[in-house]
Amino acid sequence: MRIIEVPLGERSYPIYIGHEIWSELSTVLQQRLTPGKALLISDEHVFPLYGAKTAAALKKAGFTVTSAVVPVGESSKSVAQAESLYTKAIKAGLNRTDPVVALGGGVVGDLAGFIAATYLRGVPFVQIPTSLLAQVDSSVGGKVAVNHQLGKNLIGTFYQPRLVWIDLSVLNTLPQHEFLAGAAEVVKYGAILSKPLFQTLENRWDDLLKKDLEVLSEVIASCCTLKAQIVKQDEKEKGIRALLNFGHTLGHALETATDYTYYLHGEAVLAGMVLAVHLAVAAELIDFKTAGRLLALFKRVGLKKAPPGLTVEQVFTAMQQDKKRLVDKTVFILPVEIGSGQSFTSLTHPLITEVVRKYLQQAEALLHMTT
Ligand SMILES: NC(=O)c1ccc[n+]([C@@H]2O[C@H](COP(=O)([O-])OP(=O)(O)OC[C@H]3O[C@@H](n4cnc5c(N)ncnc54)[C@H](O)[C@@H]3O)[C@@H](O)[C@H]2O)c1
Ligand SMILES: [Zn+2]
Repeated sequence: MRIIEVPLGERSYPIYIGHEIWSELSTVLQQRLTPGKALLISDEHVFPLYGAKTAAALKKAGFTVTSAVVPVGESSKSVAQAESLYTKAIKAGLNRTDPVVALGGGVVGDLAGFIAATYLRGVPFVQIPTSLLAQVDSSVGGKVAVNHQLGKNLIGTFYQPRLVWIDLSVLNTLPQHEFLAGAAEVVKYGAILSKPLFQTLENRWDDLLKKDLEVLSEVIASCCTLKAQIVKQDEKEKGIRALLNFGHTLGHALETATDYTYYLHGEAVLAGMVLAVHLAVAAELIDFKTAGRLLALFKRVGLKKAPPGLTVEQVFTAMQQDKKRLVDKTVFILPVEIGSGQSFTSLTHPLITEVVRKYLQQAEALLHMTT
């Protein structure tokens, strides 16, 4: 088992990564929490698969477990769902030292984290991420939120877990398209933060897709280490953490413009990264060769076409609503070489329009550099 520390002073916590490590969970829970009651939150896909194992570990560690199973999907990240979970926590008699445990993908993690952060002004929080996206991204770093009908993740805070428990074996039941959507975030770390990770992904992509344990473990650990380093420097995203938004400016715009019904998050981010590479070329930040290398790896993840009827104007309107906009400027994270990126606010409207138009008209053409 690997252990990666997220160093945040008294809020530091470990990320445990291993294969079939359920039997060790109870010992770790005992070490890091005070036995009492626990609220286990999961969704309707994940709970039947791993709920019993998690509850058994909690019981072995001395907890009386109350389980709450929410419907699958983004709609569970709502104030209404949060309210019903508070009711469960109150009725179960959870007190200030009793943990909320998230077992699931990013939806469950963000929702359960929001409950943990706010119930009784904050109770201990445990992340057991089960999707690739949650294992490499959402479970680490402490962003927790629910959605408002006027926008995603608008109601939330920063709240770090006490521990993150990543059992690689759970990925065997994750649908392949969800795995690939998570892989888009993996590729993001390599492209914008780490040339060695990028090279590993280039060399071992097929093994990663086959869920080769050595590759999976190395890659997930690299992503968690990179995120831990970034979060250590900039926990509340006032500076360098924004690099993790590579692909997200246009990715979010595509998700919003299609009402979150067409793209998985990672699929939209992949499209956003492809577009960002073309923006970087147009702004003369990278040469054709570097762009071609980035695109070759993105192509292996798979670029989803835009839905018929989506217009450049709709994408722009959605982009301008994004809460990550700095004052009145749209921020783009663009690659400047393999494994390195920077934040830009000076891209011109026509430049962005041209790239978005190309994607809407002929997405595949963007996967190659043509002179
Ligand atoms: N907090 C952050 O820093 C952060 C970062 C990125 C994304 N997010 C949030 O994460 C959410 C997306 O997360 P996601 O992609 O994990 O989506 P998700 O939680 O909806 O999970 C995807 C699907 O896979 C299923 N699933 C998960 N693990 C499984 C397993 N092991 N076996 C079988 N099925 C499994 C889920 O039930 C669901 O149907 C979004 O709400 C996004 O806003 C948060
Ligand atoms: Zn993301």
